[in-house]
Amino acid sequence: MALDQDWGQGYITDIAYIEGFFRELSPVWLNYVAALKGSYPRKLDQKFTYLELGCGLGQSLATFAGAFPQSEFYGVDFNPAHIDAAQRYAAIAGITNAHYIERSFQTLHEVALPEFDFIVLHGIYSWINPDAQAAIQKIIFDKLKPGGLVYNSYNCFPGWAVPYPLRRLLVELSSAEDGDSAERLLKALQNAQTLAQVKSGYFQAVPQSADILKDLGNRSRNYLAHEYLNANWDINYSLDIADQMRAAKLDFLGSATLLDNHPELQLPPAALQLMEKQPTPRLRQLYFDYLTNQRFRRDIFVRGHSRLPRHLQSLVFRDVFVGTHKQAKNLKQKIRLGRGELSIDEKIFPILQDLLNEGSFRIGDLVQSVQKRTGQVVDAERAIMMLLAAGELLPFAEAAKMPKPVGTLQKVKLKLAANQAIAAHSWATVTRKVFICPRTGSGITFEPLEALLLSLVISGRTKPEQLIQNLIQECKARGIKLEIREAQKPPLAKAEDGKEKAAAAQAEKAPPSKAEQEAVTNRAAEQMVETFLNKTLPTWHRLGIVDLA
Ligand SMILES: C[S@@+](CC[C@H](N)C(=O)[O-])C[C@H]1O[C@@H](n2cnc3c(N)ncnc32)[C@H](O)[C@@H]1O
Repeated sequence: MALDQDWGQGYITDIAYIEGFFRELSPVWLNYVAALKGSYPRKLDQKFTYLELGCGLGQSLATFAGAFPQSEFYGVDFNPAHIDAAQRYAAIAGITNAHYIERSFQTLHEVALPEFDFIVLHGIYSWINPDAQAAIQKIIFDKLKPGGLVYNSYNCFPGWAVPYPLRRLLVELSSAEDGDSAERLLKALQNAQTLAQVKSGYFQAVPQSADILKDLGNRSRNYLAHEYLNANWDINYSLDIADQMRAAKLDFLGSATLLDNHPELQLPPAALQLMEKQPTPRLRQLYFDYLTNQRFRRDIFVRGHSRLPRHLQSLVFRDVFVGTHKQAKNLKQKIRLGRGELSIDEKIFPILQDLLNEGSFRIGDLVQSVQKRTGQVVDAERAIMMLLAAGELLPFAEAAKMPKPVGTLQKVKLKLAANQAIAAHSWATVTRKVFICPRTGSGITFEPLEALLLSLVISGRTKPEQLIQNLIQECKARGIKLEIREAQKPPLAKAEDGKEKAAAAQAEKAPPSKAEQEAVTNRAAEQMVETFLNKTLPTWHRLGIVDLA
């Protein structure tokens, strides 16, 4: 076999991608959308198989594998730096059912693989050449089980119409610079920002272009290089993707962006009416993309039985589990969404709030309990769907009773050995990581300072004053600066006339004294400990990640 020197096929390979976690790729999340859109979910209470194409640094895959230890998870990526990082991460967490394979999509057929219940690809399809896209279609065609689910996310029109020319500008400007992809991208971005400031031509016609370039300046350079500098980069219409997936025997089901499955919550009535009047699902989809100016889609497809008969749809939907990571007092009845305010029925909401405080449930059981308590026929099923679309509830993997919150923090424990290892790794490397959550079949991200606070609490330092002092000491020892969150910074004194303004500006610029610095550090540590004890720990407790006793 002839080996290809250009194994990267124009994809960025000189710098690694960033670590990310995407809950929408969880088998439980995909199953929820399948059930919502009237198709069969996959069985998760028995061994299943899952494939991620282009798994990057492998954090999502490792998290799901940790949540479903009886099942087999495969991640494929042609970049050896990514596969090496993914394998190291899984080894640190002691996860043995995540298998990472260093192969291109085009050569994956050389590796013996099982058939899959799920095949997912996130942030891949718009950034690869047509040959690699065809290879993906073939993998799905060959390896997805009948009834299997596919997730494919991609950039799309019409949302990309406005920023589209900026990408070419960045590619050309960066090709004139020296350095690795990230360094070249940064210089290109600075030059493009300077160009935008003259407000001429395109930049005048598209005033938001300057803001778009400014926002890009806040993103990670490695992310931007992978996003913009690949040789292959194309924007699709969702209809074309649906056609390509059809060649792999797939039918479009719905969106992993849960709100997008409910156009009635996003569109003004006149727009909704126009969309619903369209004679085919294809045209309705096109209307939806234009009416919401879609820019990035997370599509879910199924192989076979795309729509079950109506009587089965309801049975299947009611068999799905839901719950919430939020404490009852924080669940919202009125939720701000794009189009206005979503208000959950006033009779139903307090009952759901009460029930969900006790645990996660099969939707059918929740609906029955609500009917019983109201003594009336109410549409609890719809209220539950709305709360999921708004992010107040989450799909869960099981019905589980929430342990009662306890007043004292005597014996705090991370339940999974894998999570203990991940927490230690997060603080050792000072990087954001993800706890495995079997209860949701997913994970939850956390910051290294949260891992530190947890280890302090586990070792018995549970009093807020102790935690604040220890946090400050540990951060000092590691050279980490504690920052006050923006919203909590004291407002600057009002400056009425020019003189006061100049004095205020001077005061702002003067370096803070040691005492002022210490006050900021203390306040930041207090804030962090307060949030950790009142919000973060209770959330982890509800999700079954920690035991609080
Ligand atoms: C933008 S990253 C997304 C990574 C991951 N899915 C995430 O969202 O964090 C795209 C990934 O696809 C991989 N990739 C691109 N073309 C590929 C190909 N032809 N075969 C295998 N992997 C490929 C890259 O190495 C990279 O890790």
